[in-house]
Amino acid sequence: MDDTSKVVLVTGSSRGIGAAIALLFAKHGASLSLTGRNAEKLSEVAKKCKENGAKQVLETIADVTKEEELDRLVEQTIKTFGKLDVLVNNAGILILGNLDAYTSESFDALMSTNVKAPMYLMKIAKSHLAATKGNIVNLSSIGAFYNNSTALVYSMTKLCMNYITKSCVKDLSKDGIRINAICPGPISTEIFDNSFTNEEKQGILEKYASSLKGRVPTVEEAADLVFFLASDKASMVTGECMPFDGGVFVSSTT
Ligand SMILES: NC(=O)c1ccc[n+]([C@@H]2O[C@H](COP(=O)([O-])OP(=O)(O)OC[C@H]3O[C@@H](n4cnc5c(N)ncnc54)[C@H](OP(=O)(O)O)[C@@H]3O)[C@@H](O)[C@H]2O)c1
Repeated sequence: MDDTSKVVLVTGSSRGIGAAIALLFAKHGASLSLTGRNAEKLSEVAKKCKENGAKQVLETIADVTKEEELDRLVEQTIKTFGKLDVLVNNAGILILGNLDAYTSESFDALMSTNVKAPMYLMKIAKSHLAATKGNIVNLSSIGAFYNNSTALVYSMTKLCMNYITKSCVKDLSKDGIRINAICPGPISTEIFDNSFTNEEKQGILEKYASSLKGRVPTVEEAADLVFFLASDKASMVTGECMPFDGGVFVSSTT
C-alpha cells in the first residue's frame, strides 16, 4: 500500500505535534481525519494540509474524553473514507505536580485524556485497522522512563501508554495490526511552552545541550518518526516505545 492511498486519523491535530504529523501525511498525499476541540485552529491545519497535497480532509470537532464523541469520530471517518489505515493517538495534556499537588480533578483529567481516550479509540478502531492491516502510533513521552516526582501523574499516564502499546501487541498482531509509540523529550509546543516557567525551560534546554544534536527535537522531526513507524518500511516493527530525545535519557543511565 503506498502512502497516497492511506487514510490517517490524527487526534489532537489542531496544533503542535499532531498538526505537524497531519501536514507530513498530507505532503505524501494521504487522506486525513483531523480532530480537536478548537474549530478555528483545526480548520487552519486542514487548510494547510489541503494546500500541501492531502487527498481529502475531514474535520471533526470532538473531545477525546467523551466516548460518544470518539464513536462519532470513527463513524464519520469510515463513512467519509470507507476505511482506516493509521490511527495516531496524539491528543494529550500535561499537568505538572508532585504527590502534594495531587487532586482528583487533575488525576481524572490526565487519565481520561492521556490513557482512557487512546485506549478506547484503539478498541473501536481495531476492526477497521484489521481490515486494512493498518497500524497505531501512540504519543508517549520520555517522562515514562524517569522516576519523575514533578510530573508524577503525567509521567504515570505515559508509562500506561507504553504498557498498553506493548501489552496489546499479541492481540493486535493476530489481526495483522502493528502498534508502536514514540517517547519524545521536550518539544517547543503549547503543552511545553505553557507548563514551565522561563527558568525551568532554561534548565531543561541546558540539559538538552548535552544531547546528540545539542538541542531539543522539533515537531517536524517527531512527525518524521511517526511517519516512518506508520509506513510499510516499518512492517517488522511493533510493540516498540521509542525514546526520542537525542540520547539524553540513555546518557543519564550510563
Ligand atoms: N511537546 C512536548 O514537549 C511533548 C513531549 C513528550 C510528549 N508529548 C506528547 O505529544 C502529544 C502532543 O503534544 P503537543 O506538544 O503537540 O501538545 P499541544 O500543542 O498542547 O497539543 C495538544 C493537542 O491535543 C488536543 N487535545 C488536548 N485535550 C483534548 C481533548 N480533551 N479532546 C480533544 N483534543 C484534545 C489539543 O486540541 P484542542 O485544544 O483543539 O482540543 C491539541 O491539538 C501529547 O500526547 C503530549 O503528551 C509532548
